[in-house]
Amino acid sequence: MKEEILRALRETDGYVSGQELCEKLGVSRTAVWKNIKSLQDDGYEIEAVPKRGYRLSGMPDTIAAEEVGSRLRTVRMGREIRYFSRIDSTNQYAKRIAEEGALDGTLVIADEQTAGKGRSGRTWVTPPAEAIAFTLLLRPKLSPGRISMVTLVMGLAVAKAVNRLYDMSAGIKWPNDIVTGGRKLCGILTEMSAEVERVHYIVIGVGINANLTSFPEELRDIATSLKLELGHEVNRAELVAEVMAQFERLYEQFETAGSMENILQEYNDLCLNSGRSVRVLDPEGEYTGLSHGINALGELLVETQDGEIRKVYAGEVSVRGIYGYV
Ligand code: BTN
Repeated sequence: MKEEILRALRETDGYVSGQELCEKLGVSRTAVWKNIKSLQDDGYEIEAVPKRGYRLSGMPDTIAAEEVGSRLRTVRMGREIRYFSRIDSTNQYAKRIAEEGALDGTLVIADEQTAGKGRSGRTWVTPPAEAIAFTLLLRPKLSPGRISMVTLVMGLAVAKAVNRLYDMSAGIKWPNDIVTGGRKLCGILTEMSAEVERVHYIVIGVGINANLTSFPEELRDIATSLKLELGHEVNRAELVAEVMAQFERLYEQFETAGSMENILQEYNDLCLNSGRSVRVLDPEGEYTGLSHGINALGELLVETQDGEIRKVYAGEVSVRGIYGYV
């Protein structure tokens, strides 16, 4: 109910009367008052003025369930939210609850991760109150070979969300890093449980460097944060809600086609590798070439010096710019 009260307060300029809230939520005045009190205890500044009602005048910097939930405009993504002020890894937790039957679209959010996981067995740093770490659980009706494309869809959603909210021009380093000014803002780790032909579930873990101001020595040259780029803090809950909105729209188009076909142009417009020379770190032998963006199956098209177009599949290899990270 706190989520609905917050949504009503946020959507109204000025005061919302106690009576309006009771009618909207179908509960008693006492119930409304108790929840307002509880929100105030959580750090929300809510003015209560006799005969006028309630007005939201300040909110805490939080990505707790009520805050994110009250900002969501989606019907599928994030309709069930589990929030933790501290957890080992949202991906680990999402996998545990997936095994227990948690619903498609469940969103797991943490303020801090103590054992955040990155790609290729690396760790992912998620300091409290600064970073964004969340994992979306989906149960797609797709064959396992198509799942790597979901990571591309999420990458596109994050890039679109930050560009829309902050008027930035962040791009995607194929397959799944969101980059601005040559430095990484966000990483995505998708894990799945599947049989040969059938996917049980996938968890898409997203780590966004929101309000971080420093990075470990080894990341200093390749990582950045929204705060460092913009010169001010960002509202983390607003960004999570925007990513969910973008993802829901893009994922629907992806599901309809069963491929990137419907959103190919949108991806390639933001794909920083397009039109650039890349070095493909293929375990069977490194090579360089000119990248032409992705095809409908999410493979990166790389033209080698002899004119051959090679298709690079996201799961197999990584790609670097020939002069640096992008
Ligand atoms: C990468 O290495 O680029 C991927 C990083 C993914 C980090 C996110 S943070 C939320 C989720 N939980 C994790 O343990 N990892 C992912």
